[in-house]
Amino acid sequence: MDAYSQPNTNNKGEPRKGLDTATPPLVVAIVGATGAVGSLMARELATMDALNTLNTLNTGTTLEIRLFASKRSAGTKINLPATAGLSVNPIVQELTESSFKGVDIALFAAGATVSRRYAPLAVGDGAVVIDNSSAFRTDTTIPLVVPEVNAASIIRAGVAHAGVAHDSVAHDSVAHADNRGEQHHLPTPPMIIANPNCVAIISAVAINPLHHAYGLESVEMTTFQSASGAGMAAMNELVSQASSFTTMDDLSTLHNPRNPDDDGATRQFAHPLLFNVIPQIGDFHGDGTTEEEDKIRFELQKILQTPVRCTATCVRVPTLTSHSMSIALQFRDEFTLPEVEAVLRNAPGVVLYNNHLEGEYPMPLVSSNTHKVYVGRLRKDKYDPKRLHMFVSGDQLRKGAAINALQILELAIK
Ligand SMILES: NC(=O)c1ccc[n+]([C@@H]2O[C@H](COP(=O)([O-])OP(=O)(O)OC[C@H]3O[C@@H](n4cnc5c(N)ncnc54)[C@H](OP(=O)(O)O)[C@@H]3O)[C@@H](O)[C@H]2O)c1
Repeated sequence: MDAYSQPNTNNKGEPRKGLDTATPPLVVAIVGATGAVGSLMARELATMDALNTLNTLNTGTTLEIRLFASKRSAGTKINLPATAGLSVNPIVQELTESSFKGVDIALFAAGATVSRRYAPLAVGDGAVVIDNSSAFRTDTTIPLVVPEVNAASIIRAGVAHAGVAHDSVAHDSVAHADNRGEQHHLPTPPMIIANPNCVAIISAVAINPLHHAYGLESVEMTTFQSASGAGMAAMNELVSQASSFTTMDDLSTLHNPRNPDDDGATRQFAHPLLFNVIPQIGDFHGDGTTEEEDKIRFELQKILQTPVRCTATCVRVPTLTSHSMSIALQFRDEFTLPEVEAVLRNAPGVVLYNNHLEGEYPMPLVSSNTHKVYVGRLRKDKYDPKRLHMFVSGDQLRKGAAINALQILELAIK
């Protein structure tokens, strides 16, 4: 059981003991707190075991959460559960250049433009930044982390860091730059850690153990990405399209891409998503691939630390949460399906869900609201004994974004 699946209470349902207010709190800022990812990070951080981790590591540590968004939603109230050791001002503040004074860890989920402008300011003020956007992922000096796969890349980025038992590297813990957080063993100097693209996270959790077992040569995938992958407004648009659809006549009111008078300008996607699939996520590049497809290729190579050939076709589908992917993996070595099942059964973060005769295979409704990556529909290729086919599904707001970021936070404070 990982830390994130444990309650913040003991087995009698009482708050865990050991937290007091005598020591300075660990201050976590959430930028983009009203958004799909940011609001989930706030909720999960308030309720999950980060507090227990702090407690375990450093009796007396408490947590303070500060919520930020744009001017548009400054003043909005976000109700978070009352948890022992947590203090939170539920009123969202407008993000400004001085928002990071006194902040230990800043979780960014407000898009690349905001991250590019404000993350360096947060670091300048002594905060460790964990960034959900694409702003820093391609920077070779910035670790791109999926904790089940490459937690040690935080160490390789030159950070003195305790508690990450990977690669047999021993590290001393160094207190936070300005000594504000002597009790909080944070990476020093303050740094940016990038949270990967949601498909890259989910697929890497499933692919990495197989790569280690059989030597990965190439990845081909087609994705089925839900509306919420494009944010809260996109998810709301799909819900509103669905709720206003009552009879077949309503089909004619949906945007028709072949009608030149209907530019679909008010919509979140290039075309209506209800009753449709859209084989475009992000802008197109000159060679006909999209931004999203390129991110997946680059990021999988960086996370898996291998220049594996990777081709993706990314498709938006009318589901609300969870991204799924049909993946073909080419290996250097031959394998048997029972071996592959054993590898996946023991893989961190993976749920092997591979009983098609009982209707058990990964689907968005299976993986949504969980922190795990579901893997099933395992088949050997009919023509090539070193080629495996599988279907994967994971909640992209959770493991594909918020939970992965909080796992990184947990690594950072260990
Ligand atoms: N959705 C996913 O599945 C997913 C998965 C992985 C990574 N990500 C990444 O996570 C980030 C957030 O995505 P999302 O889906 O949560 O988007 P979202 O639902 O549209 O939320 C965007 C958030 O950013 C805030 N924001 C926008 N402009 C701002 C500004 N100038 N200053 C401060 N805050 C600002 C918004 O606040 P207001 O309420 O004030 O507008 C809102 O809280 C993006 O970089 C995205 O690529 C998303």
